[in-house]
Amino acid sequence: MTQSKDDPKGPQDNPKGIKRGLTQYGDAGFSLFLRKAFIKAAGYSDEALDRPIVGITNTGSEFNPCHGNVPQIIEAVKRGVMQGGGMPVVFPTISIAESFAHPTSMYLRNLMSMDTEEMMRAQPVDSVVLIGGCDKTIPAQLMAAASADIPCVVIPTGPMMTGHHKGERLGACTDCRRYWGKFRAGEVDDKEIWEINAKLAPTVGTCMVMGTASTMALTTEAMGMSLSGSAAIPAVHSERLRSSEATGRVAVKLAEQEVKPSTIMTAKAFSNALTVLHAIGGSTNALIHLTAVAARAGITVDLEAFDALGRKVPVLVDLKPSGQFYMEHLHEAGGLNTVLRELKPWLHLDALTVDGRTLGEVIDASEADPTQHVVKTVADPVYPTGGLAVLRGNLAPHGALIKHSSATQALLQHTGRAVVFESLEDLAERIDSPDLDVKADDVLVLKNAGPKGAPGMPEAGYLPIPKKLAMQGVKDMVRISDARMSGTAFGAIVLHVSPESATGGPLGLVKNGDMIKLDTAARRIDLLVDDAELARRKAAWQPPEIMTGMEKQRGYRKLYLQTVTQAEDGCDFDFMMPQKNGQTTPIVR
Ligand code: FES
Repeated sequence: MTQSKDDPKGPQDNPKGIKRGLTQYGDAGFSLFLRKAFIKAAGYSDEALDRPIVGITNTGSEFNPCHGNVPQIIEAVKRGVMQGGGMPVVFPTISIAESFAHPTSMYLRNLMSMDTEEMMRAQPVDSVVLIGGCDKTIPAQLMAAASADIPCVVIPTGPMMTGHHKGERLGACTDCRRYWGKFRAGEVDDKEIWEINAKLAPTVGTCMVMGTASTMALTTEAMGMSLSGSAAIPAVHSERLRSSEATGRVAVKLAEQEVKPSTIMTAKAFSNALTVLHAIGGSTNALIHLTAVAARAGITVDLEAFDALGRKVPVLVDLKPSGQFYMEHLHEAGGLNTVLRELKPWLHLDALTVDGRTLGEVIDASEADPTQHVVKTVADPVYPTGGLAVLRGNLAPHGALIKHSSATQALLQHTGRAVVFESLEDLAERIDSPDLDVKADDVLVLKNAGPKGAPGMPEAGYLPIPKKLAMQGVKDMVRISDARMSGTAFGAIVLHVSPESATGGPLGLVKNGDMIKLDTAARRIDLLVDDAELARRKAAWQPPEIMTGMEKQRGYRKLYLQTVTQAEDGCDFDFMMPQKNGQTTPIVR
């Protein structure tokens, strides 16, 4: 065993590796002496500890099948780090799996971002490989990366493979919802629905439709924060492990060259990500997440500019729920590069990526497959405009969102009578009641399901079609809420209404029988009630108990309720956002 050449010499100007961020005992030399004594208990040599240290986040959990391949990814990343001359050190952060988080995974996203940021800051890492996948995890990690500004690279866990049932391909979770709708309508019986249940998610990995996980993996790659091609490789393919190995090598380079997220996650990079969000028919949730990540970097996502972009950039990717294919097919079709090649006129091609090349260089180096048919051309798109539209109106003065590419087109211009549910509990209690006064052309309204109201802004915006209408064959209705919805869902669904009803937003003033007008073409959502009546209702409005009983709250829930922001600010905690730096996401043309 040899003595490390500068151990223990006390503080240095730009400490790296094991000497970074010493624990404070009032004697830096002793701090390093102690740190090395303890890490040697794990068998490390001075030679190993003199290398650049690459932290690797272990976000696996037995409650998180979306991250079920994390142990293999970690091993592959470690190999890559060693090949690059670095020292890999794995550390845990919290793990969030969509359907195992009460009240919602969104409620925990900011906690994961704080956990990840603080562990990155606290531990002696020169760079970090962020292993994320399930919906809220990559957003939380990118938020942390932007705030800590320590060199980082993301490797997604990757999409799961598709299942099959009676000759039909199944995808989580578009088909989870579709078959549950059939079950509710009596088209599928109890035995068959549970057979399907065992086939919907046949491998580990993230949902393989264009849900939030796929959307965030693809937009992260577009932003330059993960390696080219890494978003679409299926979770169980050997190629995912080779991509993980390459990610480890890149992480060493990022450490050596001190390439920080702030040089990658620029306003241009966010603009590229937003362009891709439209073109892939991506999840509505991604707009909230990208807004939150950008805000951590001081950059404002301009909702009007995003909407204007959506009027030009068509949906090109033919994946469910907007289209017909799944992520494994997008991978076979060349992955994100095939989309980027088509989008070149709208992209900032000079934006830098983690492997040191510009996005334009990445696209030019990728190979086109002229036989693929999953990614359409601009001349012959899946949908003529971008997937998402930003709405405003007297019902949503600060904005609302609709995924019009995956909605019944006839409902995008619609005026109907409001059928109001005051809360999630009220919805659960009455939606299937035979006595519910509801018709197919009514507008279902859900209140108190926003960031604070639920709390945690659950994916409840996909209100079920009332059973008695479902039994008559009704498949879609206009539905409005301050909630979110799964990126895997289909319908004429207006989401993220802001300000939310629990904080006094106009959604809280809607009454049964009011007329509501959705005019997607004009980007309007309006309550057709006169201003004087709305003023009377506002004066009589009482906040829900969750907003009045704050003194009864404690811990993370109190912190969350007091500081979570609205959708247009990314639902981050207000105290986590730095001053805006005056930059907004620029549009190329
Ligand atoms: Fe984890 Fe869909 S539930 S990605």
